[in-house]
Order: sequence, then structure tokens, then C-alpha cells
Amino acid sequence: MTERVRSLIFRLEREQSLPEREYAELIRGRDEEAAALLARLASEKRRAVFGNAVYTRGLIEISSICKNNCLYCGIRRDNILAERYRLTPEEILACADEGYALGFRTFVLQGGEDPFYTDEVLCGIVRQLKERHPDCAVTLSVGERSRESYQALREAGADRYLLRHETADPDHYAKLHPREMSFDNRMRCLRDLKELGYQTGCGFMVGSPFQTPENLAGDLKFIETFRPAMCGIGPFVPHRNTPFRDHAPGTAELTLFLLSVIRLMLPEVLLPATTALGTVLPRGREAGILAGANVVMPNLSPVRVRKKYELYDNKICTGEESAQCRDCLRQRMRSVGCFLAVDRGDAPGYTSAKKPE
Ligand code: 5AD
Ligand code: FES
Repeated sequence: MTERVRSLIFRLEREQSLPEREYAELIRGRDEEAAALLARLASEKRRAVFGNAVYTRGLIEISSICKNNCLYCGIRRDNILAERYRLTPEEILACADEGYALGFRTFVLQGGEDPFYTDEVLCGIVRQLKERHPDCAVTLSVGERSRESYQALREAGADRYLLRHETADPDHYAKLHPREMSFDNRMRCLRDLKELGYQTGCGFMVGSPFQTPENLAGDLKFIETFRPAMCGIGPFVPHRNTPFRDHAPGTAELTLFLLSVIRLMLPEVLLPATTALGTVLPRGREAGILAGANVVMPNLSPVRVRKKYELYDNKICTGEESAQCRDCLRQRMRSVGCFLAVDRGDAPGYTSAKKPE
């Protein structure tokens, strides 16, 4: 590690910020030793804020139907080979009931942009979920919607919303998405979500096609200034039936490095060790925790649909029952000295279940 890189890392730790060009310099100049130092500092920071607790969110993949056509994604509209399914409101509630019995107190409803889930349908699901489990947090991750829709869902009881920004560079965004999708609308969504009082999550894929260290520096600066409650990052993994099938996957190495940078930038952020990270590296999620992540998201979807929610090839956790996934992760977390926290796991500074005015 050069002296320069070492000094960047310690300045980042002290000031929780670097100028954008120095983020790029840090990424370009990194080596194994730099990654180890960064991971140690980030892991210490995680422990200082969260102790040995790793938050769990039960992930329910509600639909593989999507009207969008993102070039990287396995459930894009043009993938005629994708197997499509949609959970009914009753099935979603049943998954949550099962999750509740397993100890989960926060549920993430994630799905493609499926027109079946109108505001009326989705608000109904959120309301019933909160009615049955008032002590649970509900997170939505169902893509771009109007401000009015986000507001209605918030009023129905949704606490959090995950919408990865995907890339903070409009030109890069245009290379990853079809012309009908817009960077500006994505950013509008994120602003609206935050203004409406959601604990908002953004994030991006590491090693997405055409991504440069400068792009990543832009993502880091965006995250630093947007100050999300959550930040989801995982490696890009090609899907065989997408235009990006021949692109190289993102590496676990760079993903872990960036997790550490983000932990030092935002000590209190909720940072998942993602399924994609566990897909590219056998003990990727454990490594994620040791690099500063503090959230895992075991899969609660019905086993019969698991393989169909295939955003990328070789996705893990597609054959296991919910209880198996939880137990597997509990074991994995124990192996790195952590335990699964069962409570809602709000980011520090967010009071629980605050309703919009
Ligand atoms: N590899 C990794 N992550 C992907 N996502 C979509 N497709 C892929 C892929 N091929 C991520 C996107 C999206 C989230 C739900 O999954 O970042 O926001
Ligand atoms: Fe799902 Fe290991 S976490 S099987």
C-alpha cells in the first residue's frame, strides 16, 4: 500500500468524507493491504455502532413480472424465457406470517414493476400486514412510482423503501437502461421517498458494464450527500438471457472494498451483505460483515417460485425453505462472531414507525 493510499484511508475514517476525485484515487490505488486496513476500520466502526448484532430482513419476492427492460436484469420484459409468477395478497401475507413465527420483524416486499400491484392492491397488502403484525417494519422495493403512489403507500403504513439509484452518472445510466427509462425520474423517486418520510435505501451494482472508477467515485459521493438510511450494493452478475450475457461479473474484492468505504462514510447506515455477494463468493456474506456490512436478507419467498425470481445466473438460496435460510445465515453470522437481531432494526436516529404528518 502506498503512503498516499494509507493517508486517504485514515482521512476518510476521520472526516467521513473525501473529495470525489480522491474516492477514485483510492479505488484505483487499492491493493490487498489497503483492503485489509479499510475492512478492519470499517468492521470496528460497525461494532462501535451496532455491537455484534446483524439485522435480518425477511425478503419476499412478490412478482417476477416486470414492465421494465433494464439491460442487466434477468426478469426484464424482453426475456421471453423468464418464468413469470405473481404472489396473491393472501400468499404474501402467508409468507409474512411464516416469517413472523420464525422471528422476523421486518419484511421486504420486492418485485418487478408489475402493473397488477396498483396502489389499491399494494396499499391493501401493506395495511393488512401492519394490522396483523403492528410491531413489524414494512419495506417496499417495487421500483419507480409516482409521488402520489409513494404517499399513499406511506399512509398505508410502509416504513421503508429500497430503490437502487444504479449509477449516479446519467451517461452511464443510459448505457444500462433502455431509452424509455430516465435517470432524472429515478432521482425524482429517491427525493420523493425521502421527503415522504421513508427510511430510504439507494445503491448500485459493482462491476456493472461500462462502469469506471470515476463512476464509482460518483456513486460514493452521491451516497455521501444523499445520506440514505440503507445502501444496497452487490456485484453485477450476468444473466444468460440478457444483452449483458457476455460481460464480466463484478468482483467480490471490489464489492467488499466499497462496503468498507461506505461504512466509514456513513457509520450508521444499514448495509446489507447481499445475496449477489454470496453468489460470487462462497462465504461472501460473511466477508461482507467483516468488511463493515450489518444486514442480511434471508429469503422468505415460497420455494416453488424461488428459481423464477432470477435477476442473475446461479443465484443462491433458491432451494431452501425460509427456516433453512434463516438457520443457515444464523450459523454463518455466528462464524464471524455476530448474532441475528430479531427486532425492527431501524437505523439509529430513525424513530420507529413514524407516520407522515
Ligand atoms: N446482477 C446483480 N444485480 C442485479 N440486479 C438486477 N440485475 C442484476 C444482475 N444481473 C439488482 C439491481 C436492482 C436489484 C433489485 O437487483 O441493482 O436494483
Ligand atoms: Fe439461504 Fe443459506 S442463507 S440457504
